[in-house]
Amino acid sequence: MSQKIIIDTDPGQDDAVAILLALASPAELDVLGVVAVAGNVGLSQNAKNALKVVELSGRTEVGVYAGCAGPMRRKLVTAEHVHGKTGLDGPDLPEPKITLQPEHGVDFIVSTLRAEPAGTVTLCALGPLTNLAMAFIKAPDIVTRVEKIVLMGGAYFEVGNITPAAEFNIYVDPEAAHVVFTSGVPIVQIPLDASHGVLTTRERLAGFRTPGNRTGQAVAEMLSFSERFDLEKYGSIGAPLHDPCVIAYLLEPDLFKGRKINVSIEMASELTRGMTVADYWGITDRPKNVLFVRSANAEGFYELLTERLARLP
Ligand code: RIB
Ligand code: CA
Repeated sequence: MSQKIIIDTDPGQDDAVAILLALASPAELDVLGVVAVAGNVGLSQNAKNALKVVELSGRTEVGVYAGCAGPMRRKLVTAEHVHGKTGLDGPDLPEPKITLQPEHGVDFIVSTLRAEPAGTVTLCALGPLTNLAMAFIKAPDIVTRVEKIVLMGGAYFEVGNITPAAEFNIYVDPEAAHVVFTSGVPIVQIPLDASHGVLTTRERLAGFRTPGNRTGQAVAEMLSFSERFDLEKYGSIGAPLHDPCVIAYLLEPDLFKGRKINVSIEMASELTRGMTVADYWGITDRPKNVLFVRSANAEGFYELLTERLARLP
C-alpha cells in the first residue's frame, strides 16, 4: 500500500532530486501534490522550478501549487549564492508546458488533509516551514489528521550553514518552525547532522549519468552546479545532498539512525535565530517531539537514489 504524501518545497537542486526520487517510486509513494514555498529563491521561481521538475519526471498528472511568498513575520532570505539566479542552475530545462493549479498551496494542504482519511497523509517539508505553519494556523482541525511530518531542516552537532547557529530552512522562518515543532504532529527531522554524511562524490555523480536517461543527465548537471559552493566551503570530497534524505527515509527508513528527543526553536536572539536546540542527552524534561536523525547510510542512500532515478525518462 503506497504512502500518501504532499511535498512542500523550494526547488533548489536538492529539492528537485527529492521530488524526482518520489515521482520515481509510485509503488511506495502516492504524491498527492507538490507545493512551492519561498526559500532558496522567490516563490514564483520556486513554483516554476517545481513545474519543470515534475515535467522532467514525466509524471505530469501530479499537481503543482504555489504557497506562501515569504516567512510569517520576517523578511525573506534567499540562497541564490548556492542555487544560482534561477534556483535551479545547472541543466537547461525547457519552459514548462504544465501550469500551476489555481488553489493556493496552503488551501490545498488544508483541503487534502480534510478530504483524506485521518492519519493517512505524510507532509514532506524540504524548505522553510511557512506553508505547513500557515495551514495549521488557518485550520487547526487538520493538525491531528496528519500522519507524520518528515522534514529536512535544523542542525545540532553539525552547527549551522546559513549562520554559525542555524540551518537555512529553519533560519528563514523560525516562527513557522516553532508552530510545526510544537504542533504535536509526529516529526522525523533530517538535520545537517544526517545530510552531511551523504556526499555527492565524483563516482556518485557519474553513476547518475550512466543509465543515459535525461533525468540522470539533468540531476548530474544540477548537482555539479550546486555542489561548487559546499566543496569550496567544506573542502570535502563532495557536497551534502540534503532534501532527498526525506524521501529516502520514507522508502528505506533503516538507512537512517536517530533518537526521539526534544528539539526547540530559537526565535528571540538575532545571534542564534533559527537554531534547533536539541536536547540530545535528555537533560531537560521538555517533551520528546521529534525523531532526530543523526546519521545516514551513504552507500545505501546513493544505491537507492541511483536505481530509482534510472527508472525515469
Ligand atoms: O540547508 C539545506 C536546505 O536549505 C535544503 O532544503 C536546501 O534546498 C535549502 O533549502
Ligand atoms: Ca530545500
